[in-house]
Formats: sequence, C-alpha cells, structure tokens
Amino acid sequence: MSTVTLLQCSDLHFGRDADLAQIAGLEALAAELAPSAVVIAGDLTQRARHGEFQRALEFVTAMRRIAPTLVVPGNHDVEWWTTPFDVIGAAPKYVKYSRYFGEELTPTLVVEGAILCGVLTSYGVVAGSMTYNLNDMAVKGHLPAKETERAGVRFTGESPDMLRVLVMHQNLLRGNISQRMGLARWRAAWRQVMASGADLVLCGHDHEEAAGILPNGTVVATSSTHTSRTRGKRPSACNLIVATAKTITVRHYIWDAGAGRFQPGAEQSFPRTRIVSVGPRDG
Ligand SMILES: [Fe+2]
Ligand SMILES: [Fe+2]
Repeated sequence: MSTVTLLQCSDLHFGRDADLAQIAGLEALAAELAPSAVVIAGDLTQRARHGEFQRALEFVTAMRRIAPTLVVPGNHDVEWWTTPFDVIGAAPKYVKYSRYFGEELTPTLVVEGAILCGVLTSYGVVAGSMTYNLNDMAVKGHLPAKETERAGVRFTGESPDMLRVLVMHQNLLRGNISQRMGLARWRAAWRQVMASGADLVLCGHDHEEAAGILPNGTVVATSSTHTSRTRGKRPSACNLIVATAKTITVRHYIWDAGAGRFQPGAEQSFPRTRIVSVGPRDG
C-alpha cells in the first residue's frame, strides 16, 4: 500500500485580506513537498468578485502544475443574494464560481492510493443552513444526505485499501477557539460521514487549524486561513496529511512571516481504521 500525502489549505480569501506572501509560500511548499494531491477547501474569495476568482484561478493553476488539485466552494464563494432561499433556484448563486472552476461543484479526484470526493456544504441563505442565531445567516453550512450518499457509493466501488477522503468547506468538528460548529444539524452530518466509509475529512472555514476524530475514528483535519483573519491572531497554517497503511498523520505547517515560509509544526497521528457505522438518519 503506497503512502499518500495531501497538502490541504483553505480560506485564501483573495481580495482585501489575502496575504500574497503566504500564497507564494504555499506554492513553494507544494513544490517542496510534491504531495500526491492538493486540496483547497473553499473560501477562495472574500466577496465572490470576478477579480478575486481570477486571482484564485491563477493560484489553483499554479498548484495544478505541481499536483492534481481538488477545489470546493466555500460560503464566501457563493452569491447567495442572487437567489435567497433559492427563490429562483439554486443555480444563480454558483454561476460565477462555475465560470472559473467548472460546473462540477463536487469534483472527485482519484490518485494512487486515494479517492477524494468533494461534498457541498455551502448553500448561502437556505432553510437547511438556518439556525436560531441570526449571525449564522449565509455563514453556516449544512450537509444534505444525498452528498454523503453519493460519496459513499463512489467509495464502495474502490479497492478497500484506497484512502477515502471527503472534502467540504465548513468545519465538521467544533473550533477550539471559536467553539463553533460549521454545520447546522452537525450530529446528523457526523452520522452521515461515519456511514459513508470515509477515512478522512478535510475542511476549513473556522480559520484555526485543528485535527481530531469522529466517534468511529474517522480523522478530521481543519486548515486555517491565509489572511490576517486567523482565530486569536495566531499564525496561519496549512496541513500536510500523511496516510500510511496503519496511520493518518496531520502535520500543521505554520507560517513564519519573518522567514517568508511555512515551517513544520505540531502533528497528530491517528490509527487508520475504518469502522462504517450506519445509524438512523435524520436532518
Ligand atoms: Fe473563511
Ligand atoms: Fe467559510
């Protein structure tokens, strides 16, 4: 079984807050690490503007020259105001994103030793993402059952030793500093993810790097942001995931502004076990 390495970043937020030194640093890190694949877990833009998407596409193109790269949209990439509550359907809010990154909002990527499935959690202002907190409007995501079911079917068709990876924008685990979940009805989302057969979930949105597990052992890695808008003004970080036959290790690479490069930081290793739990569905 081959070792799989994934470079994970998110929340680049091209526009006012993007840190171009870090963007160059990410490109240099990718070239140095030569990962099996690069994952960009959404929030490529600040306000879903054409110029922001165009700069984001330049970055994604640079990454694609280094390794196969999977991209999913985040809440900042969705023009929810074009169709609040999907009054004229869902399509208009993704038009601009699709113009630059393709019609497929949930791409699948197969590389040696791993299958990565994007699942859509960013829907803007819709009933499924609503909570009782008005501040969550257009920020919180949700994970429809059809998303994880589609990925689960795709996973089932692959050889058992392939690493099964879900990629989503909103954080699946509670943020350490924010103490917030990225998804409405997160318990149902956890059950769905555990039933999908995923070994690993890659997400962003919380602007603080983290790693942990779901109750069945599925590993969840959250990447930070490459702007100054980190939680607690901590240094930015991206993640390198190293998956062997026995372990999944999440290593944070921390931005060193003085040196102008990402430096290896803390890492956590988890056993690579796949316990597919199928529970009652709700939400
Ligand atoms: Fe973000
Ligand atoms: Fe976000």
